[in-house]
Amino acid sequence: MIDFPDDFLTILHSARRVAVLTGAGISKESGVPTFRDKDGLWSKYDPQELATVQAFRDNPQLVWEWYLYRRNIIDGVEPNPGHFALVEMERRYDDFTLITQNVDSLHRRAGSQKVLELHGNIARNKCFNCGAPYEGEISVEDGEIPCCSCGGRIRPDVVWFGEMLPEQVLNEAFEASSQTELFFSIGTSALVHPAASMPLTAKRNGAYLVEVNLEPTPLTDLCDFFIHGPSGEILPEMVARLSE
Ligand code: APR
Repeated sequence: MIDFPDDFLTILHSARRVAVLTGAGISKESGVPTFRDKDGLWSKYDPQELATVQAFRDNPQLVWEWYLYRRNIIDGVEPNPGHFALVEMERRYDDFTLITQNVDSLHRRAGSQKVLELHGNIARNKCFNCGAPYEGEISVEDGEIPCCSCGGRIRPDVVWFGEMLPEQVLNEAFEASSQTELFFSIGTSALVHPAASMPLTAKRNGAYLVEVNLEPTPLTDLCDFFIHGPSGEILPEMVARLSE
């Protein structure tokens, strides 16, 4: 049984507006690798070679092979109790916003209704040139990258390093961060902006800041509560305390 601080439980019960930012850590217990953990993707692969516009220009085949490899992992896993606990929180709070950096659709697959996907979604494709969505199958075995009717190559609909985030999603996420009473930062290293500045926006506007992580991050010292441990164990228990 996790020993949550009493003042945290009081805030958990009294808050009306709640916002949550998740990162790769919430999907780790489902079997999706994170990026910066010691066994994370960036410890094995160079993001400059795989997750930038220039990388796709230089070697679209390699980039696609990597995204198909990640799609394959994601297709083979299920949401975990951490994802389901956030579905329950969405049901319990009048005003609840779920903001994610994850591209794995696991929040939606768990049943979350409103998910602000800051970095896109790995299951979607679009044209590199005109941005038109592409519904066709992607296979790069024959070295052929599918093309759009405009002639542009098809790319994964995710946000690469150096690219702008989807404007409307970003504005909604900052709006929710500035309006919320209680902000959770869950399973993120709090290093990648603009996502990493959303907890700061919430704090600056008077919200309580709660971090759930296996490790301290650059955000921890600014938090009112740091709940140390795996989100798949902490969040279900936290939600169970909500009904007390
Ligand atoms: N429960 C809670 N936290 C966890 C768990 C877990 N089971 N497992 C790992 N963590 C924490 C790690 O301690 C780390 O702080 O999750 C965090 C994962 O950090 P990153 O790998 O940096 O992932 P994230 O913060 O989501 O990365 C942000 O960077 O690479 C880009 O676009 C990519 O969206 C991604 C962005």
